[in-house]
Amino acid sequence: MSFRVFVPGDAGALALGSDGVADALAAAASRRSVNIEIVRNGSRGLYWLEPMVEVLTTSGRIAFGPVTKADAESVLDIVLTGSDEHPLYLGKPEDIPYLKKQTRLTFARCGIVDPRSVDDYRAHDGYKGLERALRMQAASVIEEVTQSGLRGRGGAGFPTGIKWKTVADTAADQKYIVCNADEGDSGTFADRMIMEGDPFVLIEGMTIAGIAVGATQGYIYVRSEYPHAIAALNDAIAVGRKAGVLGKSVAGSLHAFDVEVRVGAGAYVCGEETSLLDSLEGKRGVVRAKPPLPAHKGLFGKPTVINNVLSLASVPVILEKGGPFYRDFGMGRSRGTMPIQLAGNIKYPGLYETAFGVTLGELVDDIGGGTRSGRPVRAVQVGGPLGAYFPRALFDTPFDYEAFAKADGLIGHGGIVVFDDTVDMAKQARFAMEFCAIESCGKCTPCRVGSTRGVEVIDRIIANRDRVANKALLEDLCNTMKFGSLCALGGFTPYPVMSALTHFPEDFGAPPRLQAAE
Ligand SMILES: Cc1cc2nc3c(=O)[nH]c(=O)nc-3n(C[C@H](O)[C@H](O)[C@H](O)COP(=O)(O)O)c2cc1C
Ligand code: SF4
Repeated sequence: MSFRVFVPGDAGALALGSDGVADALAAAASRRSVNIEIVRNGSRGLYWLEPMVEVLTTSGRIAFGPVTKADAESVLDIVLTGSDEHPLYLGKPEDIPYLKKQTRLTFARCGIVDPRSVDDYRAHDGYKGLERALRMQAASVIEEVTQSGLRGRGGAGFPTGIKWKTVADTAADQKYIVCNADEGDSGTFADRMIMEGDPFVLIEGMTIAGIAVGATQGYIYVRSEYPHAIAALNDAIAVGRKAGVLGKSVAGSLHAFDVEVRVGAGAYVCGEETSLLDSLEGKRGVVRAKPPLPAHKGLFGKPTVINNVLSLASVPVILEKGGPFYRDFGMGRSRGTMPIQLAGNIKYPGLYETAFGVTLGELVDDIGGGTRSGRPVRAVQVGGPLGAYFPRALFDTPFDYEAFAKADGLIGHGGIVVFDDTVDMAKQARFAMEFCAIESCGKCTPCRVGSTRGVEVIDRIIANRDRVANKALLEDLCNTMKFGSLCALGGFTPYPVMSALTHFPEDFGAPPRLQAAE
């Protein structure tokens, strides 16, 4: 008897002991003289069930989770008998409601394929987008991306098609595709999951971008805290070169394209695109003034497309199925799907890809199941350390770039961090300001000096010293940072600070605002 068993090699699953589970399963199988092939897949993104082991049976995959080393023998017994009588038995993974309710376009293969196998990638519709792109004119490829309505998933939400067209229209002897895999936002892990679980989708997206704009070289800038993603990417690149989908002749075409991984030291500001370019060039990461735009003068002074991992990983499905297919999902000017990351004090943390338009309340209460602590949800921070804190009263806000901007927030990279009613929002405001002071690149005064002064002002408010005057001063300082900073680190730090002050005034010594009923 022989089985294919999937044990995630994703960093999240590894942290929860998946290596030990893989070893224990191999040992248990060998004791029973059962042949098993263990595939180290990515995670499906249901982290409360990790390590989630899947066994390929005649009726499809059957999942168990969370599996420990001690469960290996009993899980194997159940598989051998074909029974479902096991406390960790989850049935078919695709029938688990958390997965079933999702619309997985970007994450269609994550957790399913063997991330090290280009054949497996192909067997699951991989490289169909590239094949179609190779049959098209470069301008039509860009038009398809423009039609899809895809906007940058790194935070700013800039239309990807327009960015690509700018690079395509700029004449140069060399152009570059740079993938921003710095993923510095708190509560985010979607880039990492894709790089570890389906690296070929990113490589395919970058290759399509290269063909569209006339770039022959790509770089993936990954933070050093992501060793497993770095290893998965390097392995996939080597496999891709061997398979002829990277190199001098991409898939037998006249197009050349290759990719290299570059490891950054992990400064938050190195995720800002111009700072990232400095770091890629071997310098200290400092924000560059714009213009020139990176699309005109980017890496080594050459026209450069800089896109987030998720933006690039969404391109293959757009080219495979067409821009209108992708555009049909979503609401308003937010088209397609967004891989949302549920984190913090939440019962069901994980990756939830869905069309734009789902409300914050649905995400936190229905999908996320409320807090892990069981206490009431008090606040959620959306969009990383520069995102606003939302109270329950704003839980009907739909996940949409414009709706969040209207509520003085941002969706950023789609990270949601949940806090229960034990959170002290004045401390969170101080934390946001302090984060800015620590991470500031120092180039402009409102951010470099303003954030340090901001921490001092918040400290005075917390200590109840001249509260009214200091709150006014904080507001004034936030406005200076918002309108006077060179980049969004200084410019957006006022969002978490001011949202904490506005929505949770009681934590700053004022009477509480009326909240919507729990
Ligand atoms: C302080 C700061 C940090 C950022 N960090 C990231 C990051 O980690 N990953 C990312 O993709 N974009 C990050 N961005 C946004 C990038 O500057 C840029 O908008 C993005 O890489 C463009 O790609 P996209 O259009 O595909 O989103 C950051 C911006 C700022 C101001
Ligand atoms: S806002 Fe802060 S991080 Fe951005 S350029 Fe100015 S000093 Fe640097």
